[in-house]
Amino acid sequence: MKVAIVGAGMVGSATAFALVLQNAVSELVLIDLNAARARAEAEDIAHAVPFAGSTVVRAGDYPDIAGASVVILACGVSQKPGETRPQLLGRNAEVFRAVIGRVMEVAPGAILLVASNPVDVITQISTTLSGLPPERVIGSGTILDTARFRWLIGRHLGISPGSIHGYVLGEHGDSEVLAWSSVRAGSVPLAAFAAQVGAALTDRVRAEIDHGVRRAAYTIIAGKGATWYGIGAGLARIVTAIGRDEQAVLSVSMVEADALGVPQVALSLPRLVGAQGVSATLWPDLDAPETEALRHSATLLKEMADSVPL
Ligand code: LAC
Repeated sequence: MKVAIVGAGMVGSATAFALVLQNAVSELVLIDLNAARARAEAEDIAHAVPFAGSTVVRAGDYPDIAGASVVILACGVSQKPGETRPQLLGRNAEVFRAVIGRVMEVAPGAILLVASNPVDVITQISTTLSGLPPERVIGSGTILDTARFRWLIGRHLGISPGSIHGYVLGEHGDSEVLAWSSVRAGSVPLAAFAAQVGAALTDRVRAEIDHGVRRAAYTIIAGKGATWYGIGAGLARIVTAIGRDEQAVLSVSMVEADALGVPQVALSLPRLVGAQGVSATLWPDLDAPETEALRHSATLLKEMADSVPL
């Protein structure tokens, strides 16, 4: 499977590196306004191939996207310390107005995978600009937040995050919803499992985990200027689900016709991801506060999307 990455910055390069280490794709093309950067990242990542597999990694330009099954869009600006994701909207909407048309000219059959923030609104903009059906324009959404959620719960309980089943929904951002009520450890409801292993989920623990998920990016950005490894692995996970036609349940962003009464809005829900993109949305069981919080998140996202002239 051929994959193109538009934007050879830290997120695009980390994604390419993750895909190479997993030997997940046959060909990777990196594109960037800074052609020298794209060439340097491609060559550096290519030097990892002999340790991992046989991926052909190269830099290129838009014509080199032709034939790609997935085009990852990691272009534009990223948060600076203290900056919120919505504050990037104007600048990144401008970037996507220029990029989407060029991608569609050479790869009209590709699935678009959006990483740039605010990722839900940029996913919605990309859906509109590309003319593709919503199922073929996927945003990384809360796949990273869900990973952070599972990692923090697993660390509290002393078990693998891979055995924690639960989701973060809605906006990849400050209004995201941690769906505590449906979290399972193995097949056991979270609170019961926590009691069994003597790691009670007190209000304080829940608050600490909520803060750890919701503020993760701000904390990391304050320390090193940006995030890239977690999102890179999350984007690689979506690519492998597409490439292997896994029909995997992943919390990714996509334009939903009706989200709790909010029409035409991109937000993250558990969705089946496979070769054709998203094949189903699996509405989760939520309690009343979670349902109201998700409706609020959808409303905020809709207001942001409606504020962008296309
Ligand atoms: C983060 C960026 C990818 O949450 O939005 O780390």
